[in-house]
Amino acid sequence: MDLNEKETILDLYHLLEKGEIQKLEGTTLTFGGFVRNARSMGQVAFLSLNDGSCFDNLQVVYDATKEDLSQIRLGCSVKVEGTFVLTPEAKQPFELKATKVELIGKVSEDYPLQKKRTSFEYLRTIPQWRMKTNTFNAVFRVRSVLAYFIHEYFYQHGFYWIHTPILTANDCEGEGQTFQVYADAKKPTEFFNKDNVHLTVSGQLHVEPFALTYGKVYTFGPTFRAEKSNTVRHAAEFWMVEPEFAFAHVMDDCDLMEDFLKYVVSHTMERCKDDLRFFNERIDNHLLERLKEFVEKPFARVQYVEALEALKKAKAEGHRFEVEDFSFGLDFGSEHEKYLTEVVYKGPIFLLNYPKEIKAFYMKQNEDGKTVAAVDLLVPQIGELCGGSERECDYDKLLARMKELNMNIEAYQWYLDLRKNGSIPHSGFGLGFERLVMLVTGMQNIRDTLPYPRCYKDMLF
Ligand code: 4AD
Ligand code: MG
Repeated sequence: MDLNEKETILDLYHLLEKGEIQKLEGTTLTFGGFVRNARSMGQVAFLSLNDGSCFDNLQVVYDATKEDLSQIRLGCSVKVEGTFVLTPEAKQPFELKATKVELIGKVSEDYPLQKKRTSFEYLRTIPQWRMKTNTFNAVFRVRSVLAYFIHEYFYQHGFYWIHTPILTANDCEGEGQTFQVYADAKKPTEFFNKDNVHLTVSGQLHVEPFALTYGKVYTFGPTFRAEKSNTVRHAAEFWMVEPEFAFAHVMDDCDLMEDFLKYVVSHTMERCKDDLRFFNERIDNHLLERLKEFVEKPFARVQYVEALEALKKAKAEGHRFEVEDFSFGLDFGSEHEKYLTEVVYKGPIFLLNYPKEIKAFYMKQNEDGKTVAAVDLLVPQIGELCGGSERECDYDKLLARMKELNMNIEAYQWYLDLRKNGSIPHSGFGLGFERLVMLVTGMQNIRDTLPYPRCYKDMLF
């Protein structure tokens, strides 16, 4: 490594937390990073150095008379060596009294990030730079930590991670909103000798056989939807977490979802305290309060028909919705989801047992002949965070439903056959990972949770 025994700023904070920071007092340390702020007061100059390891900067103090550091400005990269000192009286707990400040990379006049606050819209046009701002630096760190705790939760609970393919010939959700894939546009079927290869919309179908063997599995990777919806919650490329487990019914699915999400959110709150404090101050003043409730309060479990009743009642009491036909079969829009989570139940809700017409073919058919054992988790501000169900594990019932929907049975025969040999009741769900990042950071546009967003009519490079 270029930097000898390189410490990070995060290491310093870890030592501080453990009460062991004193051991570094007076030692010589080296840091590399970029300059968040540079200013001088007479003969003393200050740098705020960020090395990306955590939200906080390291304050570097140096003698401005000794070195010509006029080139050192916001955005430069530097390497600093100096004596580490504790400053318990000051705003920051420690600083580095530099003995050497080396300019590694200059900045040009047209450096796009200046001190003044810039809009998220503008920053979306420069995704290669925006992670250097406080906000995006924190967003992508939180994103990474969330992914870590997702894997940790599953590992600790005996779920195996299965890498399902991105290229597929099956459309899991049956919506036809797929991106086609071929090597040669003139001969689209030539490469795979198949006429329906596309990017996956969900790993579920491919992960199910593994659940029926290993018992508890999950897939976590990129998924793609050619939905032409230009909203703050939809991306064309997003990541999905999809656990699938055997001998599980729809209520077990709810239990897993709730336990899993509370674990991931609470551990991330603990690990990313400074980032979240920043989001609470700058992005959404109710964020921490909302997250505390999220991890502490049980999620309500509400039947689809009960939700319809609640909406009918709201309408009778004078609340206006754009879509007001609350008959059985309505697919709730975001205005309904908002009203249910923010006004009626004031928190996350599981919505259970939807009409079969508005849900996917693979869901377990209930005895009533009208509904399926589906569950969506809806949360305030965001709407649908997870969608899942118990799966239909009866061969004849599944086949009948697929025929009703005019599906190409041949293409799904491999999947149907799972119900023929050693079929087991099983359930699973899909969590939209970016929507979880939105929930935890308070960011309101999915484009601001993706390192390089790909959305309808919106892809830079
Ligand atoms: O509800 P969905 O469509 O469910 C499935 O795909 C199931 N096969 C999952 C399963 O049971 N294994 O998608 C799951 C979640 C949604 O709840 C939502 O959070 C997210 O994926 N999602 C999107 N996120 C961003 N942009 C989009 N276009 C999304 N579409 C779905
Ligand atoms: Mg859904």
